[in-house]
Order: sequence, then C-alpha cells, then structure tokens
Amino acid sequence: MYCGPMLRPLRILAGWLETMASMVSRSTVLRFLVVPALALPLAGCGVPLSAHWQGLPAKAPSEPGAAAESQDAPGAQEGPDCAEVKCVALTFDDGPGPYTESLLDVLDKHNAKASFFLIGKDVAKYPDIVREELASGHEIGNHTWSHQDLAKLSPAAAERELSKADEAIKKATGTAPTLMRPPYGTITESLTKAQPVPVVMWSDDTLDWKTRNAKKTVKAAEDIKPGSIVLMHDIHKSTIAAVPKILEDLGAQGYHFVTVSQLIGEPKPGVGYKTGQHPPTKD
Ligand code: NI
Repeated sequence: MYCGPMLRPLRILAGWLETMASMVSRSTVLRFLVVPALALPLAGCGVPLSAHWQGLPAKAPSEPGAAAESQDAPGAQEGPDCAEVKCVALTFDDGPGPYTESLLDVLDKHNAKASFFLIGKDVAKYPDIVREELASGHEIGNHTWSHQDLAKLSPAAAERELSKADEAIKKATGTAPTLMRPPYGTITESLTKAQPVPVVMWSDDTLDWKTRNAKKTVKAAEDIKPGSIVLMHDIHKSTIAAVPKILEDLGAQGYHFVTVSQLIGEPKPGVGYKTGQHPPTKD
C-alpha cells in the first residue's frame, strides 16, 4: 500500500487542528480527540508520524501497535529510493501565478511530485494554491519576498527578503518552507551557510523563461539525467503547455518525479545543492 500522497495533507491538517486547539483552550481535550482520529488513516502506512507528534497520544484504538511501530523507523523517506531508481526533481520558480493550478492538475494526473520556489508577495495573492501544492505532496521553497538579487543586498536586507517570504508561506500553510533558492542563483557563501534550510540550485535550465516556447522547453528537457534538478517557471503559459510531454517522455524512460528533498535524500541546512542521487552508472 502506497500512502505517500495522503500523508502530507493529513500532517498539515493535523498541524492546523493542533494550532486551533491550542488557541481555543489550553486544555488538551481537543488534541486527545483530534490526534487519534488522524492516526487512524495513517495506521496502515507504516510511515512514522513527524517528531512533532511523538509523546502525544497518537495510538489508534483499532491498531494498538501503530504508533510504536512508527517510531521504530525514524527518518524513513516517502517515495522511491533515488539511489536505486531513476529520479528527477522538476522545480518551478517565481509562482504562484494564474497558471499554477492547471500545472497542479497535470502533475496529479501523472502522479508526479515537484518543488515550488515561491515569491512571498504572490503567496498572499494565491494562498489556496500554495496550500494545494503542499496538500498534493509537492515541496515548497522560499524564493524571497520580491525576487531580489540577494548577493547585491546588505545582509540585513537579504535577511528581510527571506524572512518576509517565510512568514507569508507560514501564514498561508501553517508550515515553514523546507528549501530555499536564491533568485538568479546568486547568493554569498556566508548567507548560504546561515540558511536554516538547504539551498537548492539546479543542474538543468530549460531556459523556459527566455524562449517562452513549449516545444523548445520540451527539447531542453531531453538533456535530463537521473539525479537532475530541472529549472522551470510556472508563471509562463508555455511552460505549463510543455509539462505533459516532458512527463510522458521521461515517464516512458522509467523516471520517477520526486521532490528535491526526496531526490537528494537528506539535504542539510546551509548547504548548496545542484543535483541529487542517481543509481550507480554502468561503465
Ligand atoms: Ni526566480
């Protein structure tokens, strides 16, 4: 049973409900009602509940061993093992925008996961879409508040650009972004090291932002290799038009479409990444 797609929405829901519970009352009555209810659908998945939940009464009455069993496997990754099978991380920058929702439909149709690097000021315009991105199992990253070149800003101004975007994403989803990508791929080494999340660049630029042409974007994606992190932008209609063909072509070659964190394995905060794991190459 593959339960990956349903885990993240449940966790988000759980986070919100817990926040609401603590706002309504300091008593734990709601938590005791809410947590076991959410543990029920998770029980059959054999995937650990987040550390946030450990110590809470998460046992499902129908599955007495569920919570204990879950805690035996900390750090287990959802999705395929990208050190064994061909994976690629499709990443979409500069959204959310008016075309993002149709992209989410396309990705869902192909059971493809992706990563979205969001502009903070646009998150406030499309909070529902950002929630849908998370609920669909995609990963979310910070792409600054207003797409500034961080290398050209003072450290304090760069920090403001990032923290404002963090706040916008937290406000929309209840969850902090788990990745960061600097606009234009430019960032100082000291700012990279100071990041509380992994800093994600790319190995394959489709140049979709430049060509604005679906056929050329599809053609550029032919260079993708196992472990590639692919740069695209969901603010261009031509990019959305290219994605179905990219998914079909790569899918036919046996690729799995995963989030950046799944591709890398266990990416570390304050470290820059351009590629992820891939199966051993045969000489
Ligand atoms: Ni950008």
